[in-house]
Amino acid sequence: RTVYVNGAYVPEDEAKISVFDRGFLFADGVYEVTSVLDGKLIDFAGHAARLKRSLSELEMESPVSEDDLLEIHRHLVRVNEIDEGLVYLQVTRGAADRDFAYPAEARPSLVLFTQAKPGLADAPAAKKGMRVISIPDRRWGRRDIKTVQLLYPSMGKMMARAAGADDAWMVEEGAVTEGTSNNAYIVKGNTIVTRHLGEEILHGITRAAVLRMAAEAQMKVEERSFTIAEAQDADEAFVTSASTFVMPVVEIDGEPVGAGAPGPVAARLREIYLDESR
Ligand code: PDD
Repeated sequence: RTVYVNGAYVPEDEAKISVFDRGFLFADGVYEVTSVLDGKLIDFAGHAARLKRSLSELEMESPVSEDDLLEIHRHLVRVNEIDEGLVYLQVTRGAADRDFAYPAEARPSLVLFTQAKPGLADAPAAKKGMRVISIPDRRWGRRDIKTVQLLYPSMGKMMARAAGADDAWMVEEGAVTEGTSNNAYIVKGNTIVTRHLGEEILHGITRAAVLRMAAEAQMKVEERSFTIAEAQDADEAFVTSASTFVMPVVEIDGEPVGAGAPGPVAARLREIYLDESR
């Protein structure tokens, strides 16, 4: 695989980052994941806009322009022959003597790589649905910034696995915030419910697209908090993310949601999303 590191395209085993890089020492960095279908990037503009916002919240600057970023994404997709998969991008504050204060002399590091995911669009999980467990949300308070500080979501995924489930929904003050790496939704009658935006969740790019498509398809959307009990009692549940698109959730803490099988609203939204993205 060819990867991109600070201005150069290199084979992955020749790529180097300093041990003093603050991404490594402080998780002082942000990232984006853009999916690729039929060799085309999905919603690059949305991911670029969120990256800009994450960087500005951390007083960092992108090392390259948005046009250059797009070109780097396209180049990697081409040389690595990605038909279905994703492009991962990470910007860290860069290397400097270890100090909690942001070092003035650090120059941001930019790393991009691709991952091939054959069968991404036809994922069998979309027909089977996912089982989730609920866990307390123990992440930091600025989840609207897409930082590389992912240890708690990683622990959550392991807790889910240990419980024989696929993922975890995180709960704070009695309300679902989001999944370990996706936004969470329930469906009641013909209304789609998903948590309102704020600092408590990541503002998903797929979420924005799916809510727009739902409104265009005359579906009703409510942006508000919901509890695990309300979700277990819903007709359907699902999650969205750049890497899973729309993915049904069929069980929460061992309780079936609706019929305990993927529902029509999630299936329809997945179809619309894939159609419009292609
Ligand atoms: N995760 N919430 C969290 C906590 C996430 O990590 C993600 C994305 C989302 C969905 O956002 P989007 O629709 O923009 O992908 C919500 C990516 C895919 C990841 O970490 O791999």
